[in-house]
Amino acid sequence: MKLTLMGFVGIFFIACQQNPSLNSASRDIEINQKVEELLSKMTLEEKVGQMNQYSGFMDFTGPEPDKGQAASKLEHIKKGWVGSMLNVHGVENVKAVQKMAVEESRLGIPLIFGFDVIHGYKTISPIPLAESASWDLKAIKRSAEIAAEEASSAGINWTFAPMVDISRDARWGRVMEGAGEDPFLGSKIAKARVEGFQGNDLSSPHTIAATAKHFAAYGFGDAGREYNTVDIGTTTLYNTVLPPFKAAVDADVKTFMNAFNVLNGIPATGDEFILRDILKSHWNFNGFVVSDWDSVGEMVNHGYAFDGRDAAKKAVKAGTDMDMESYHFIEELVSLVDNGEVEEKSIDDAVSRILRVKFELGLFDDPYQYLSSDREKQTVYNSKFKEDVLGLAKKSIVLLKNDNQLLPLSKENQSILIVGELANDKTSPLGSWRIAAEEETAISLVEGMKTYNSNNKIKYVQGPKLVNGDPKFIKQLKINTTDRAGFTEVIQSAKDADVVIMNLGEHGLQSGEGRSRAEIGLPGLQQELLEAVYIVNPNIVLVLQNGRPLTLNWADKHIPAIVEAWQLGTYSGLAIAEVLFGDYNPSGKLTMSFPRSLGQLPLYYNELPTGRPNNPKQEDVFRSHYIDEENSPLYAFGHGLSYTHFEYSNLKLSQTASKSIQVSIDIKNTGKYLGTETVQVYVRDKVAQISRPVKELKAFEQIELKPNQQKTIDIQLTEKELGYYLPNGDWIFENGEFEIFVGTSSSETLSEKISI
Ligand code: GLC
Repeated sequence: MKLTLMGFVGIFFIACQQNPSLNSASRDIEINQKVEELLSKMTLEEKVGQMNQYSGFMDFTGPEPDKGQAASKLEHIKKGWVGSMLNVHGVENVKAVQKMAVEESRLGIPLIFGFDVIHGYKTISPIPLAESASWDLKAIKRSAEIAAEEASSAGINWTFAPMVDISRDARWGRVMEGAGEDPFLGSKIAKARVEGFQGNDLSSPHTIAATAKHFAAYGFGDAGREYNTVDIGTTTLYNTVLPPFKAAVDADVKTFMNAFNVLNGIPATGDEFILRDILKSHWNFNGFVVSDWDSVGEMVNHGYAFDGRDAAKKAVKAGTDMDMESYHFIEELVSLVDNGEVEEKSIDDAVSRILRVKFELGLFDDPYQYLSSDREKQTVYNSKFKEDVLGLAKKSIVLLKNDNQLLPLSKENQSILIVGELANDKTSPLGSWRIAAEEETAISLVEGMKTYNSNNKIKYVQGPKLVNGDPKFIKQLKINTTDRAGFTEVIQSAKDADVVIMNLGEHGLQSGEGRSRAEIGLPGLQQELLEAVYIVNPNIVLVLQNGRPLTLNWADKHIPAIVEAWQLGTYSGLAIAEVLFGDYNPSGKLTMSFPRSLGQLPLYYNELPTGRPNNPKQEDVFRSHYIDEENSPLYAFGHGLSYTHFEYSNLKLSQTASKSIQVSIDIKNTGKYLGTETVQVYVRDKVAQISRPVKELKAFEQIELKPNQQKTIDIQLTEKELGYYLPNGDWIFENGEFEIFVGTSSSETLSEKISI
């Protein structure tokens, strides 16, 4: 039977209805055709225009450009010389700018509006480092969905998130923005966040395009110093840095963003190896790459480009498709192509990628579909988000220490003193990436505790100020180290209290971009205040609010209860109060090691064994150690206590197939509270073609157990978990001996060995 064209189309149509992947394939074909058709109509100037992104006139997330350029930016939009805007949000603002592009430029190509919706737009969820401590992938995905729902209602169709940079150095300010030190967990979280932002239908006005950033290795800057040099081997690149980016590509992330740093001598923005060889060819990424703020122009500072023109050429050749706020693409690319220094096919490739994402977002179908004022009013700060955002905040809290079960607090007849400027701070809990959320929109700890329905007497005394003056978003903070006003009142009040809650840590702007710290103890006079209170009343609960691991040796030795409460977002105070009073049994687990000393950094659990592994029992010094500090962290990766206790027993390993290991373990809740435990499974490959870490997280499972309840957990480790990348980037699995560790943290495990 001859199959006519109509017959084929009919069969294909039916097949698509029955098979979504064929449906998406047909949509891809349709979009590619539309892109080709539009590209054929565009002048070179209009093509280059799509590669040009300007910042709006409201917020700046980089060095402020000359404000005078605002007018020319609008003119360029009308000429079709702009493809995207960032930092323009709110239906009215976005609509005004979109109309210029759609109704006044020759081809009416809609702009794509990007914004840093890092952990919420106006309703702010916990900072990503806190969210990662929940280990709850479903809740993390939901958090991104909420962010997308709220941001898209305000006209935003693209977020510059998730930041998936692995980091091992708490001095770096942006550890608050990532998922910690582990690539396996970081990959799972990258997937969850991309899927949360982008949903199942990117053309829906309730979903937004996501960005995997910063590509690559931004978290490995020397000495934890912001924007600093990165020089790492390919073993670390392939096995630690790249996996979360690959997970984002596998989750169909639509965009990538360059990192500011050089990677092994080449600025990431101009690095053809990572952008074209790995990302676009080996990984077959078909979205587009946007530079970070002026990272194209900064290749001149790096000494890698002579001038802006040379930088534009090198960036495009390397595979950067869109230029954020350096202006070199729009100023130089047309003449570079006309002079034959840049091939037009490179421009066509970049523009096709950008147009494809705009088609997928539905912006060509309806450029105003994200622009309903009614929807914006009904969505922004809507209380329907509270349950999930508050729930994730509670799950992000990590109980670091709880001697003599000081926690949970009694709800009756206690005089509770709350101390610390942070306890009354309604902005710091929003973190440094709150850029759209208004100040003072977080529920503070004082509010959370005072509104909690307990029959306690709650008193608040601020104590000495943490910062001088009134810091604003961009400006530097001045930490108070001299003004002790408030000390006496705190000490007097502490004498009369049953329990003192010391809410100490970092101001919300002491972490985040541009905020590396050379010391990571409690800033200002806080440590002095803590020790002074301890003298008059040792019954202290230290509640930390911070954006990075801190050095807490004195507190760990003296303070009976320590709670890591990060910066938990809009519902911060409510979440902390529920945990302190036991209505939520803390379940968080650290995703970054807390050092004993600054000198231990960079510090990470999945280190290599070295040729002389540390052996404290060894008398001589010829082992990998310090003479003045332990090697181990103060609090390990995966550490987090509960008000109950979980007992691990009966670890069994078996080989179920040629390249897999079956792990079985019994867990029992031996305490008196219902609790959630994150069972962690670590692997050590004993002998390989390269030295392998002493342990690596390769599986985890969260279980909820009632008191006295026991469960057996069965987990399958396949070659996907047991293999690794060779220095040349090839993935390999090798038979041999493996040691499997299962436990409640990376430092508290049962272990067995097996050869397969
Ligand atoms: C900043 C950040 C980047 C952010 C961009 C736009 O410099 O490095 O993460 O998305 O500029 O605000």
